[in-house]
Amino acid sequence: MTRRSPHQPLVVANWKMQLGVEESHERITELKQQLKTVRGRYQAVVCPSFVSLDGMKKLLRGSDLLLGAQDVFWDDRGAYTGEVSPMNLREVGVEYVIIGHSERRQLLGETDEMVSRKVVSALGHGLTPILCVGETAHERNEGRHEVVVRRQVMSALRTAPPPTGHNKLYIAYEPIWAIGTGEAASAEQACMMHQVIQQTLIDLYSFPLVEQSYRTLYGGSVDEKNVSQYVRVDAFHGALVGTASLKPETFASLITNIIKTF
Ligand code: 13P
Repeated sequence: MTRRSPHQPLVVANWKMQLGVEESHERITELKQQLKTVRGRYQAVVCPSFVSLDGMKKLLRGSDLLLGAQDVFWDDRGAYTGEVSPMNLREVGVEYVIIGHSERRQLLGETDEMVSRKVVSALGHGLTPILCVGETAHERNEGRHEVVVRRQVMSALRTAPPPTGHNKLYIAYEPIWAIGTGEAASAEQACMMHQVIQQTLIDLYSFPLVEQSYRTLYGGSVDEKNVSQYVRVDAFHGALVGTASLKPETFASLITNIIKTF
């Protein structure tokens, strides 16, 4: 497989609910230090917990690291106890937002309809959505993975306008069986699913628009050792990383390995 995309890969760290506020701030400072020598050669986003976001922007100065959130609500303000407004995210310097992660879909009952509203809201506020899709092990065993992922992409984007200007929309293929298991999808499996996503996008929009505004990522047990195989996948535009993004030295070497391969 050969790389066709001329775009620099995007690496996204999803810190989930794994770190404290101070811990997050310390790790970002350390990560910035570790990436000093490769400035200008990578594109990376760090998504800490909501309460760690404030103050993070200041700490990221002097690096290429950008700020992301792990979720967003679809309305700007109102009586929505516990939700976080896209306006608040913008206020603290957030530029990217993960939407529809399988942990939210499975544990918190997030539906395709909710995911779709969040995508529209993020785009409307100039936040770059990272839309997560992916099948369960059961769905794959039954041979339904392509249908499931196609449905997730279709439902999430049905009412969403395409990103405008230079904005992008990222779709992260994260098979649920690969998340946190150490059992990453093979490059071939990831490649096939990237093609399914690309074809779905082309059916929804047009080829030139998809080329210009849509990007795909792979996520699920990506680490510093296996990341290079995904860089060689045709449709690969980056990675969404959980566990291997938590330690600054591991995440920095993952980024360095992408730079070497790309
Ligand atoms: P792991 O990298 O720990 O498998 O997590 C992937 C993930 O869920 C990123 O959003």
